Amino acid sequence: MVRPFLIDCDTGTDDAIALAAAFGCPEIEVKAITSVNGNVAEKYVCQNNLDMAEYLGYSGPVCRGAVKPFHGSLHFSDGTHGRTGLGDVVLPQAKTKQFDPRLAPEMIHDAAVAEKGNLEILATGPMTNLGIALLLYPDLPSLIRHIWFMGGAVYGGNVTTTAEFNIWVDPEAAQVVMQSGIPLTMVGLDVTLKACMDPEDEAELRKDGGRASLLTADLLDFMFQRHRAGGEAALMHDALALAAAVCPGCLQTEDYYVNVECEGTYTRGHTAADVRHRSGKPANVSAAMKLDVEMFRHWLVQAVKNSRAQ
Ligand code: BDR
Ligand code: CA
Repeated sequence: MVRPFLIDCDTGTDDAIALAAAFGCPEIEVKAITSVNGNVAEKYVCQNNLDMAEYLGYSGPVCRGAVKPFHGSLHFSDGTHGRTGLGDVVLPQAKTKQFDPRLAPEMIHDAAVAEKGNLEILATGPMTNLGIALLLYPDLPSLIRHIWFMGGAVYGGNVTTTAEFNIWVDPEAAQVVMQSGIPLTMVGLDVTLKACMDPEDEAELRKDGGRASLLTADLLDFMFQRHRAGGEAALMHDALALAAAVCPGCLQTEDYYVNVECEGTYTRGHTAADVRHRSGKPANVSAAMKLDVEMFRHWLVQAVKNSRAQ
């Protein structure tokens, strides 16, 4: 059976690659794409999602979503993804595709109802939309089969010493998700900092010549340049969360009871995993802790090449 997925994302260079790969995964069908503030403002994220959808021939709904986190002000990353989210890549602006009139939380609920408990969610940005949906629709946890999310870390952080970006932007929303009872797989920095692409991968995609392949190659090229200029390497944080769902052999997981630190003068946004199992609470999260990077890179290149748009 082809698994129904909804992708909630803050596109975002690596989110864009995750989307391109998702369109090429025969195991899943993307039922909707929802946008959230994060790497850049939501007005850029949703436009990137709409443009990606039209460019790569995705005909399902694309929705707008939360423009701010639960608390505090807007948080944007530091230019890691360029001014409008896709680095220096400029996609043709969508001409015919329009936003679905539903906002992300409603779309999440509608898709979950329509799929009768089989919907899986890939979340690659801050969890504001998911948190709102869970607060609005009490039946939602019973309708979602699994959430695969990029965010957090059992050990370490990238915005602060102890917090990863997606969770740090909206810890309150992430805590709602963490305590929802929905089966969760956390793909955090413990593994994503090792999920690095190589110029060989770019060359293979260019040789393929398909639309998704060339777009991904251009995004990788931006990332390699960014890295040469002292920024982040070509890390596939978000595509690795998709891999957890469809290429599980490339990851090893450990189960933990996890809370999100929503206070903490120095630790706000930390995903506090009970690694010593002292809380007596059952695990709520399966956390990816080891990565077979060669298997992952091979899977990702094949998935993008398999995206059918020409
Ligand atoms: C996460 O933050 C964003 O920069 C990436 O898109 C990824 O989802 C990594 O911390
Ligand atoms: Ca992201």
